[in-house]
Amino acid sequence: MSPPQEFLRALRRRDPLRADGATDALRLLDGAGDGRAFDGLFVDDFAGRWLVGTSRPGQTPPDWLRALPAADEPRSIYWKRLDSRGEYQQPPAFRAGEPITGPFNIREGGLAYRVDFQNGYSQGIFLDQRDNRLALRERIRPGMSVFNGFAYTCAFSVAAAVAGARTVSVDLSRASLDWGKENFRLNGLKPDAGGEHEFRAGDVFEALHHRAKRGARFDFIVLDPPTFSRDRKGKVFRAEDNFGTLAALAATVLAPGGAMLCSSNSRRLTAEGFRRLVLSELPGGGKGWRTEPAPMPADFTGEPYLRAVWVSC
Ligand SMILES: C[S@@+](CC[C@H](N)C(=O)[O-])C[C@H]1O[C@@H](n2cnc3c(N)ncnc32)[C@H](O)[C@@H]1O
Repeated sequence: MSPPQEFLRALRRRDPLRADGATDALRLLDGAGDGRAFDGLFVDDFAGRWLVGTSRPGQTPPDWLRALPAADEPRSIYWKRLDSRGEYQQPPAFRAGEPITGPFNIREGGLAYRVDFQNGYSQGIFLDQRDNRLALRERIRPGMSVFNGFAYTCAFSVAAAVAGARTVSVDLSRASLDWGKENFRLNGLKPDAGGEHEFRAGDVFEALHHRAKRGARFDFIVLDPPTFSRDRKGKVFRAEDNFGTLAALAATVLAPGGAMLCSSNSRRLTAEGFRRLVLSELPGGGKGWRTEPAPMPADFTGEPYLRAVWVSC
């Protein structure tokens, strides 16, 4: 069964995004955004290893994915079900090509990031934040400081650090921060104690309170929390209820002229609703603060589910 022409057209539309060879991880197919026939079907390319996501009940990766022209053929195909909560947390399942036996690296804007298909549900990097990482990197001047809350594998911190920033990465998961340190090393950056880069395992709210008490100030703050989380003391965070409080707390450690990147994939909020929520508890009720949208990358052709905004004072 040969692949539909529409799929090959979707691939060709993405060619310019990786033409310079600096990026080899992107979304190749974004469901109905690339044609109604692809509703519920997603293909992410991680340096030639394809992760196929299916979101409709009973949907499986189409057989034509194994019958691509040689120039488009992936090294491996894995499958991640997005449809049922039970299997939602499972690592991707092998479908075709070379089995992947361990972590490997992808490239983005010339930087390397470690990816792992065996690690669980998340592979180590969120491709939908690519343009925001590149935008942060472009805004950094050497010597600036960045607080990366909810840092996960520290991809934002790496992007800032290669541009010369000092970084603080905070996440509840020590394992994710260790992965982040590996991402630093992959890019020739030194993550070790006493240097320019701090890694704190703990709660972002506590870390921000603590830094505010010490009078710390950051030129950039990245806030990209999960839509829902519970910290070790059982305190619940829901993006659609609590993002305003989080942004206001972060604002207490924002340097004059600094900027925050606030991001959420809560589908309960419109882009404008999210912008207002972020501003709602800032000093002056948000008056005097500038906002700038942070659009999703061009390969995400479907529903623009990411709510992301730059907020500066
Ligand atoms: C959506 S991921 C963040 C992705 C990350 N910003 C990136 O671009 O790669 C959410 C992360 O938040 C962390 N997390 C959740 N609640 C937290 C909290 N209260 N304090 C610190 N980290 C938290 C999780 O451990 C997870 O790594």
